This record gives sequence, C-alpha cells and structure tokens, in this order.
Amino acid sequence: MNHQPSHPTDGPICTSVQRALLGLTIPLETLQVVKNRMLQAMGEGLSRETHAQASIRMLPTYICSTPNGTEKGEFLVVELCKKHVRTLWVTLQGDGNHSPQVTQDIFDMPEDIPQGTGEALFDFIAQCVQKFLTDISRLEDHLPLGFVFPFSCKQTRLDKAELISWSKDFSCSGVEGKDVVQLLQSAINKQLKNVDVVALMNNTVGTMMTCSVEGKPCEIALVVDQGTNSCFMAEASLVETIEASGRMCVSTEWGCFGDDGSLNDVVTPYDQHVDEESSKPGERRFEKLVGTLYLGEIVRHTMIALATEKAVFVESNINVLKTKGVLSTQQALEIIDEEEGMAKARSLLEGLGLRPSEPDCCRVQQVCRAVVSRAAALCAAGLSAILTHMCRSRELECLTVNVGVDGDLYQGHARFREILESVTALLAPDCKVTFVPTSDGTGRGAAIVTAVALRLVAQRHEVDQVLAPLRLSRDDLKRVQGLMRREMDLGLGQETNATASVCMLPTYVRNTPDGGEQGKFLALDLGGTNFRVLMVEVGADGIRMASESYVIPTAVTQGTGEALFNHIMECIMDFQLKQDLGDQVLPLGFTFSFPCQQLGLDKAVLLTWTKGFSASGCVGKDVVQLLREAAQRKQHLGLKVVAVVNDTVGTMMSCGYDDPKCEIGLIVGTGTNACYMEEMHNVGTVEGEQGRMCINMEWGAFGDNGCLDDIFTDFDLVVDKKTINPGKQRFEKLISGMYLGEIVRHILLALVDKQLLFRGKPCPKLQTNDIFPTKFLSTIEIDGLGLRKVQAILEDLELQASFEDSMLVREVCQTVSKRAAQLCAAGLAAVVEKMRQNQGLDQLVVTVGVDGTLYKLHPCFSQHVQQTLKDLAPKCIVTFRQSEDGSGKGAALVAAVACRGVKL
Ligand code: BG6
Ligand code: GLC
Repeated sequence: MNHQPSHPTDGPICTSVQRALLGLTIPLETLQVVKNRMLQAMGEGLSRETHAQASIRMLPTYICSTPNGTEKGEFLVVELCKKHVRTLWVTLQGDGNHSPQVTQDIFDMPEDIPQGTGEALFDFIAQCVQKFLTDISRLEDHLPLGFVFPFSCKQTRLDKAELISWSKDFSCSGVEGKDVVQLLQSAINKQLKNVDVVALMNNTVGTMMTCSVEGKPCEIALVVDQGTNSCFMAEASLVETIEASGRMCVSTEWGCFGDDGSLNDVVTPYDQHVDEESSKPGERRFEKLVGTLYLGEIVRHTMIALATEKAVFVESNINVLKTKGVLSTQQALEIIDEEEGMAKARSLLEGLGLRPSEPDCCRVQQVCRAVVSRAAALCAAGLSAILTHMCRSRELECLTVNVGVDGDLYQGHARFREILESVTALLAPDCKVTFVPTSDGTGRGAAIVTAVALRLVAQRHEVDQVLAPLRLSRDDLKRVQGLMRREMDLGLGQETNATASVCMLPTYVRNTPDGGEQGKFLALDLGGTNFRVLMVEVGADGIRMASESYVIPTAVTQGTGEALFNHIMECIMDFQLKQDLGDQVLPLGFTFSFPCQQLGLDKAVLLTWTKGFSASGCVGKDVVQLLREAAQRKQHLGLKVVAVVNDTVGTMMSCGYDDPKCEIGLIVGTGTNACYMEEMHNVGTVEGEQGRMCINMEWGAFGDNGCLDDIFTDFDLVVDKKTINPGKQRFEKLISGMYLGEIVRHILLALVDKQLLFRGKPCPKLQTNDIFPTKFLSTIEIDGLGLRKVQAILEDLELQASFEDSMLVREVCQTVSKRAAQLCAAGLAAVVEKMRQNQGLDQLVVTVGVDGTLYKLHPCFSQHVQQTLKDLAPKCIVTFRQSEDGSGKGAALVAAVACRGVKL
C-alpha cells in the first residue's frame, strides 16, 4: 500500500526515524479495527439510550431528501469559513441543478473575531451580507438566506440549531448552547430589513447537496479541511433521537471520534503533544489526526522528538521548532511534492534558521508523507464505516454511491486523494464509490437547502391556514362556556325549555349513593361501544359484578324497534342462562344512553335517537315498555325493570359509591354528555322546590339551535351532513369518538387536495367513510410512538407517508382532539361554575365521574380537559375519577334504592 513509509537504512539514527515513521503508519488490519470501532460509535450515537454519552453525536439535520432538481429561485447564502466569510447569490433554474448562476464575494475576517465575542462574530457576518447586497444592488429585495455553519449543532428544525461546542480555532463567547439562527437573524435585523434566515446547515450537508445532480444523487459527503466531518443519508428509523421515517441526513461529527479513548492505540506521542497544546485538550481526537489545522503541528512535534534523539538536525539549535505554528500544513504538503519537495524542505528549514543535511530534508519529507498518508487512511476508515452502515441498514449486497468531497486536502493533493480512494476500496469492498469533488464549494448546496426550507415555510403557512379555524383561543372557549351556561338556564326554565338546545332532562335521581344500598340486581348497559348485561350484587362489604358484552349489529341498531328489543331480550336470556340465574326475578336497572323524557324512575320516553342508532318505532315510546313487550314476545316472565338511567347518571352514581363528592357524570366516548346535581328550585320543569335532582344535560345537542355556528368549520359541516341525523347533536359531533376520525379524514383529504400531503397523490381509500376511526388518533398521538408506526397505520390505508407527511398527520390529529378536549372543558366549566354559584361558595370542591373510550384511551385528552377547565373555572377544584366498572353498576345502585322504596 502506498502509504507505507520507505525504510532508510543508515545506522542507529535511522532506527529512531524508522520508529517514528512506523508509529505514524497504521497497518491495514488496524485500519479495519478503527473502521469497526467507528461503526460501533456511530451505532451508539444513533441509539436513544447511548446517544448522550456517544463520542460521535450523529446529529439529525432535518434534511430528508437529496435535491430532485426542481429547486428554483434566487437565494442568498452566507458561509462561515476558517478565515473569511463567503456570501453568495445563487439562482437555481429548476433544471436539475445543472447550471446554477452564482455570484459571490469573500470577506476576510479580522483576526480577533474567532476568539472574540459572539456578538462581534455575528455582527461581522451581518455586515458582510449587507455589503454584498449593496454591491449587487439587491438591498431592497425580500431575501431568504441559507447559513452554512461548520460546527456541531443540535438541530431541531431546519431553522433552529443550538451550537453544541466550538471547534477548530473558534471560541467566540456567549454562543455555545444558543440558537445560532436566532443570533444571526438578530444581527442581520440590526442592519437589514428584508433578510430571513430560513435554513442552517453544516458544511458537509452543503457539500452533499452541491454534489447531487439530477439522476445522480450524492448520499455521503466528506469534508477534510481545517477540521473534518461527514454526513450521509441515514435510514431515519435508525436515528432514534428523532421520530422519523424515510431517510434523513445525519451529520456524524466524527471529529470527536476517539474522545473516549478508542483511538489510543493509534495515537502517537507527537499527537499527544499537539492535543495538549490545542485549545481543548482531550477533545476531537480524530479531527486532530486528520484536519489541516493539525497536520503541520504533528510534523513539527515529530521533528522535535527526532532532533532530541539526535536523529535529525544534529548541528542545529532546534529551539525554533518549539514555537507553535512555525510549520504549517500547507508547507508540509508542499514538502511532499515529488519534484519540488526536497527543495521546498530545504528552503523552509533553512528559513527557520536550521541547518538541514540532505538526509534531514529527506526524513522531514518522509514524516510529512507519513502524516498526510495517515490522515487519508483514517478518513478512509471512517468513510468505510459509513458505507458499511448504509449497506447493512439498506440490506444491500452492494451499495453504489456517490461521495461528495470538499476541502483542500482532497482537492489539491493527489497523494491524499489516492490513499483515501484506495484504502476505502480495501476496507469497504462491497461498495462502489464514486468520489465527486465539489466545484464551487458548498454554496449551491446551501441554496438548494434554502429552497427546500422555503418550500417548507410556504407549506407551513398553508397548513396553518387550513388548521386555523380549528384552533380555538381562550376567548372562543370563554364564549362557549358562556353560551353553555345560557343554554343551561334556558333548558331548566319551564317556559324557555323548548327553545334551548340543551334539554336539561330531569332524572328523578335525587341523591348520590350513601353506601347503604343493598341487594342483587340485573343491569343493562345500552348505547356505548358495547352492549352489556350485568349481574350486580351490592352488599355491606362492597359490590360484586359479573357481566357479558354483546355485539349489536348495525342492521339491528338501524332496523326496527321490535328487532332491537328482541335482540336485547335474547342477550338477557343468554346471560341468565350462563349465570345460572334460573327463575330468579331480579330487579333490573337499565342504562339507556339516549335522551329520554323521564316520567318517573322506571318510565322514560325516547326523545330522539343519537350516535348512529335509528331503530324505527321507538321515538316517543317508553323504552321500559318496549323492553317489557319484547319480554312478552319471548315469553320471558322474570323481568322487573325498576329504574332507567342515562349513562352519565350511571357513571356519576357508580363513582359516587366510592367518592361522596362525585356530583357530576361525564361521558366522552362514542357520544358525549354530562349530568350534575342541580338545586330543585332551579328546575322549573319539575314540581317541588326542596332538595336536589340529577339533571341529564344532553349537552351533545348544544348548538343545534345555531348558537355555535361560528365555531363549526367546513370539515365539521361535511361530517355532519353525512351522518344519519344532520343538524343534530352538533356539540357532540365536535367532541366524541364517533366523529373525530371523520373530521381528521376530511382535513387530510383537503390537505392532499392542496398538495400539502402525500405529494398531492390521489388517495382513493381515504375517500371511504369511517375508514379513519378515532382510535387511530389515540394511537398516532402517543408520545414517543415512532413515526414509523404512524406510517404503518397510513400504509394500511394505502398511503405512502414520508417523514413530513407523518408529522403532518399527527399534527392534524392533535389539533382535532385538542379542540374536542377544550370544548368539553368549556362545557364542564359552565357546569362547575353554576354549581359553585348555586351553593354561594367562593370555592367549589367537586368530583367528576368519567367514562368513555375517548377519554380513557386517548393519550392526552384527559390532560387537555383538566388543564383547560382549570383555566376557565379557576374557583373550582375539580377531581376527575374514571369509572372502572361502567355505568351498569350505577344503574344497579339506582335500582337498589328504588327497591327499598326510598326516594332517590
Ligand atoms: C361505558 C359505560 O363504560 O362507557 C356506558 O358503561 C357508556 O354506559 C360508555 O355509554 C361510553 O363510552 P363508549 O366509548 O363506550 O361510548
Ligand atoms: C349521546 C346520548 C346521551 C349519552 C351520550 C354518551 O349524546 O344522547 O344520552 O349520554 O351520547 O353516551
């Protein structure tokens, strides 16, 4: 291999030289080991558990695709380089990036800037931008700017990047830990009005983008300059520090490789000295073996060591070599030159006041060669690690890939280039690599990234416009609370009840449980996701229950009333058989979760069906009577219905058994509704002034009189129109499980239509009604659920979702469920505030018993309800208690009291 040193043979002097050269030469087997360690370190940087301690940070860049050639427009780019700032004006033609127009300027940086204050640095960059725009007469234009910033940053968006730490020669104060996009934007704002920093990228990323042209994507980039770094298109599912699918460019920040000691067996004493003299000893060990900031220094320290051992410069005073920087990397590279190198070495050494012999010059040249060759070989080991990682993660036998390369070493030095390429071929034999040197630096790539960022900004604006009507302000919610309160008052009033959208139905339940209830009961629970039959035994020592769930087919819920109640009877009989109840006639409590005009505890006239039920011949009839008739039809004689309750009431009673403060029942499931204990003197629709009565609000119908019209969005209107009861249950249709999935589906369709989702491709399956159930929201919104799971859900719907698509779908779900939770809280706020005022309290302490799949299973619904309620009703301390056993238990408790003949 041509990076092996040649072996001088003249005596003991040369033994030292030989040893030094050998130390600087890494054998192929060791390079293989370095590669494997690098692979392992990459894995650690990508893994969620080990990322924080990993030596290689593997930073996500939020760049999810290589350019596709459609990028078009005019962009401003500013690049922070080692000693200067480069400004560019790039015009992309949308022609596959073959012929970008680039105008550029370079501004030398005053020497004190890299070690000065952050403010001075960013002010200087802003001045460069200002001067450039003045020179090209574009001061007045509104300009998007891409910022190439070659330091390690924790990026959370294209335009948000916290500097992790300075490297190379930079150490400006007050920048580490800050968002550098913001810092640059603030500095620019001091001088210019129209420039927006829309994207920040590492220079490797700029290189990768620059080297990509249509049809020939470049998926890896390597920069070997003062410092060194690389980036590549990683499988996003392996980047565990973010939730993404598809691919994302990862900046490896491999300069820090070895900071955990993993290069110790490669590092020489000369490298140790270089490290000790650097601004951050112990850090960026790999970079210090590879970057041009250090190569000259390594040569210098090798020469010092050799001179001390009297292997070179025997007749010279070598003190001059002890000064940092007397030999630059550039000079070392000139010395390597086959033809001129020896002469260069001589003139340089003499220039330093040394008196080199011919062999001295030769040895210095060998050292320079060894140092540069080693840098190239180490880069090759790193690159091979990336190649192998990509090959494995893409499950390929052979990876064919273009690697963009930037930096003086590769561009200007054949030796470095040859070794990098040949060693890479040896270490990653499965990969076909084409090296693509950048032609005009990173500027064009930065312009492309800026174009992508701009497209995202424009998209964001459009998405916000679509979602804005669903985002409710605090004022909106306050207004809803006020309207609910008004409707409650109207509903309770004898004369006004007919005009109210909230019916405020009396339930004839006058007390919450007191623990004295006893007996064995049957219970039915109809109207939620499941139809259940239960046996409930209430004893002094607590409650025992047995239950069975039954499916009621849609054909039955939407068929005839007779068929529906026959089906219910069949289920009861099946249950009695299974429970071995024989001829026992148990009193029955019936949870019937639909609006009923209650004429007594055991007499409830169905006012209207809701939640997709529409069985004929039931509305206007007493449902207890309908059940009894079905029993007769089935010749079942042992049915004794003693109480009918709404599920809200059942839930309140059920939770009230364990918590006497539970005076409100809330359901957020298939439908939504609430009940609460109201003062009799406020209930104009029932005779009597004394005591209290539970009121079934039937708040699902809130807004059916038009009072919420300005809250409804176009999506809500479409969803409503397609239900079997259009114009009815308007509040419920904003909140409950039966409808949220549909709202989301319609929003997604609108986003596709506007080309903001799924690349605007038609989605036939998504056109199907109810194909996106609300349980999807509950899954998609789980915190920490990888977006690939989201992608899997969407795949079932035949939707190919990119990273951005999955993020957007999640955002839509979040927006819809959050609005639902907030509206629910606004309703509750009206209830608790009314109860507080009823009782003339400064502070009300109350418990809400809650049930329903949406409330229970959605990852953030309950939290949003509680937070919003706290905000809207700050004088009420409200505890939420989830009902564990369903509302059948509550129905049995009501039945228990009815059986005792005690007025509930
Ligand atoms: C159940 C109750 O737990 O929750 C029912 O027992 C109630 O009475 C139901 O109707 C509401 O939730 P969902 O999600 O089943 O409609
Ligand atoms: C519907 C019903 C109501 C029930 C609620 C929750 O709104 O009309 O009675 O309480 O759904 O299930």
